Amino acid sequence: MTGPEQHQRIRGAFKAAFGEPELVVRGPGRVNLIGEHTDFNMGFVLPAAVDKAIWLALRPREDDLCRFRAVDLDASFETRLPELAPSDLRWPNYLLGVYSELAADGHGLRGVDCVFGGDVPIGSGMSSSAALECAFAFGLNELFGLGYGRQDLARLGQRAENRFVGVNCGIMDQFASVLGQSRRLIRLDCRDLSHQFIPFEDPGLLLVLCDTRVRRSLATGGEYNARRAQCEAGAASLRARHPEVQSLRDATLELLEAHRAELDPLVFKRCAYIVRENQRVLDACQSLAAGDVEAFGQRMNESHAGLRDEYEVSCPELDLLAARAQSLPGVLGSRMMGAGFGGCTINLVREAELERFEAGMAEVYRRELRTEPLIHVCRLTGGTEIAEEGALRV
Ligand code: GLA
Repeated sequence: MTGPEQHQRIRGAFKAAFGEPELVVRGPGRVNLIGEHTDFNMGFVLPAAVDKAIWLALRPREDDLCRFRAVDLDASFETRLPELAPSDLRWPNYLLGVYSELAADGHGLRGVDCVFGGDVPIGSGMSSSAALECAFAFGLNELFGLGYGRQDLARLGQRAENRFVGVNCGIMDQFASVLGQSRRLIRLDCRDLSHQFIPFEDPGLLLVLCDTRVRRSLATGGEYNARRAQCEAGAASLRARHPEVQSLRDATLELLEAHRAELDPLVFKRCAYIVRENQRVLDACQSLAAGDVEAFGQRMNESHAGLRDEYEVSCPELDLLAARAQSLPGVLGSRMMGAGFGGCTINLVREAELERFEAGMAEVYRRELRTEPLIHVCRLTGGTEIAEEGALRV
């Protein structure tokens, strides 16, 4: 289904449930080329918004009722704002968390009717949650004239996820979803949110996702928070001797080695991965600027190895897809993407070799994973926006 068709589908579902919507917002999913789990260590990432998105239709209400409908889950939820509390259903929490953060900012808002759905697969590592919470924040900002800028909305989405959903995520996903630009990667410094948009428009190079179909279980929210805690424990140990180490972003491999004996071996391994991954992002960006896409792809491959062996957030299906991709002609780099434990690999593939890539991957899907291939060529799009009927900015 195309973007305009998704838009019509969600608009139609809103009409059927509640009448005419006032606004439809498109919130894109994201990819990340390199820099995994570096965001909450105040490091560097290289994401982009893509042409898989959530569409969200909205109309403000005169009272304090909120009525939500998740079309793809065929589920509905209602609550009154004074009774705002996390729901066991989980999906409403991405929306309620936004209201909760707006209330914390001092906004006493009216309720809304909201219908959403789209084609960012849930749990695929493409950040359907950030797309949803930021699209909702963007929509409320428009409807109620709250005056938040794009970076504020990204931070608000992150706070909603940290405090209401309970995942201690960094800023990458929300930033990429809200601030993405067509045909651009975002080189983001997560310490101060300074960023550069890097052109990615060589028609000879494609970003291709291979979805394992393995979905992160609820338990992996715990794994994610556990990794973050290990990184913070490592940074705190280093900081005790070296106050300038505010986060692992400020650490070097030499410094880590010098304090190896004081660190739990597992914490050491996690920290070593983060320090190396940060450097890989910087090196990869330099390679890209120099037009050396082979070197860029090498850094992607190394990133996968680090996530698999040192940081330990991969899974057998991701390893299999990455290893096969890396062996195919025309594949510059392949790695797991996102939080891990399932979801997609991201592959940098020469356009001329796309067919051979798809055939090679289809074989491994069928023979080893015993499933049909699920492969998506991404286009890089603009960030969260009011969706005009019939239009998708690419
Ligand atoms: C999830 C989080 C992000 C980031 C990635 C891993 O997508 O939401 O903040 O930490 O995992 O890079």
